[in-house]
Amino acid sequence: MSQQAEPRGADETTANTERVFIFDTTLRDGEQCPGATMTFEEKLEVADFLEAMGVDIIEAGFPIASEGDFHAVSEIAKRIKKSVVCGLSRAGENDIDRAGEAVKHAARPRIHTFLSTSPVHRKHKLQKSAEQVLEMVQFQVTRARNWVADVEWSAEDATRTEIDYLCRCVETAIKAGATTINLPDTVGYATPEEYFQMFRTVMEKVPGSEKVIFSVHCHNDLGMAVANSLAGVKAGCRQVECTINGIGERAGNAALEEIVMAIKTRGDALPYHTNIEAMMLNRASKLVAAATSFPVQYNKAIVGRNAFAHESGIHQDGMLKHTQTYEIMTPESVGVSKTSLVMGKHSGRNAFRSKLKEMGYELGENALEDAFNRFKALADRKKHVYDEDLEALVDEEIATAQDRIKVVALQVIAGTMGPQSATLTLDMGGGKHETVHATGNGPVDATFNAIMKLVPHKAKLALYQVHAVTEGTDAQAEVSVRLSDESDAGGRAVTARAADPDTLVASAKAYLSALNKLFAKRGRLHAQMGA
Ligand code: KIV
Ligand code: ZN
Repeated sequence: MSQQAEPRGADETTANTERVFIFDTTLRDGEQCPGATMTFEEKLEVADFLEAMGVDIIEAGFPIASEGDFHAVSEIAKRIKKSVVCGLSRAGENDIDRAGEAVKHAARPRIHTFLSTSPVHRKHKLQKSAEQVLEMVQFQVTRARNWVADVEWSAEDATRTEIDYLCRCVETAIKAGATTINLPDTVGYATPEEYFQMFRTVMEKVPGSEKVIFSVHCHNDLGMAVANSLAGVKAGCRQVECTINGIGERAGNAALEEIVMAIKTRGDALPYHTNIEAMMLNRASKLVAAATSFPVQYNKAIVGRNAFAHESGIHQDGMLKHTQTYEIMTPESVGVSKTSLVMGKHSGRNAFRSKLKEMGYELGENALEDAFNRFKALADRKKHVYDEDLEALVDEEIATAQDRIKVVALQVIAGTMGPQSATLTLDMGGGKHETVHATGNGPVDATFNAIMKLVPHKAKLALYQVHAVTEGTDAQAEVSVRLSDESDAGGRAVTARAADPDTLVASAKAYLSALNKLFAKRGRLHAQMGA
């Protein structure tokens, strides 16, 4: 880091910097991680937001993976006009053709085709010789080029591949017509210096390198995904593959918001720019957290709830004297507003609408009306309604908009004089109400048993987490529930969140929302409800 007399002001950018393209894979690598499943509608909403935010390339999914993935990629391809829309494929012809079919209506289509190149993958995963893999590279890129002019080729596990062999693979891909070459750190193993050097060597040795864009794609197993990505950019890569909130396989991918703000804030060390509208980053984080029901860790850089909170006396004193003492970028620059106390029970529809707008939410008329009614109900029960309360309420509104089964009423008997019991009424869809009574080992167990009676299922509770949305004993409880369903081939996990001043109501809503997601995903909702 260079020393300066004065700290650099927040958000400075250096003139005449080079553009780095942002390739967002939230809908593919992000959605692929256990529990982060999104519904079709959620995927469309995320894609629209990514485009509005200035993402250059949206990787919309893996079309051969399922009918649902194919449908989502082709729908996103049809509606997105500015960003490139990309579908992933392995090296087989069916994979490539499926990806080609899915993106063919895009204004700017891309096929991203990948193949493992490292010795360990060649031997154990592909069971192919190095020469066979080279032939496959030639085949996959050529076939993808028959569909589209914009073809990205990735060397899976590039960072554990012999460098000379990696160069031969890249040369083959370029000769076959690849326009972007991505060299991922698939297992999050590389250090920044190694990643930098790998790109430098490939760029220097491979003929035709100057004609293509090199891309970084880093996983966070050792917590170095962002550092490695930026090292790749320094080596000459001009595309960064990343996800909102850093979600992705295992420890996740490089976080988009961290890449963007590192480049924006440290123009002295990173003389590049992106096309991302940084003020939309906080909203993007909230949207993806709500759609995936994957909570954002409190101390997450840029978008965590504590990212701009100053708690210690020394820091608060410094901040009061001059914000640059402890703030290297302003909360406003990523879309975090400073106000906290907002609305009360006398606030009207218009104030509610403009408050949501100020917070970055644009709801359709029906969703707005529902959210407003829920806000009024909340304001009746809670003295102060804070921004965080509104966020929890609207995020839940968005996440549960497609839910068919809903909680109507819940009455719980708890305390030391067991057994604890729950009487639950659900709307089973189309206004059909059913009520049951169940007992359990505690009020949460009784509530979940009641749900099981009305909606029999085989899913197992993999996570149950409660936290308070704001301070105070009247704070809303936000409950996260993850269900895993082993009855499916390959298993499946979904996570859902819900908030309510009553922890048990929030628990019932979160559990049911996870079930709705699970059933919707498997197209089994009607069968379950008819059973
Ligand atoms: O991590 C990885 O190697 C990938 C490839 C499919 C690009 O996600
Ligand atoms: Zn990956």
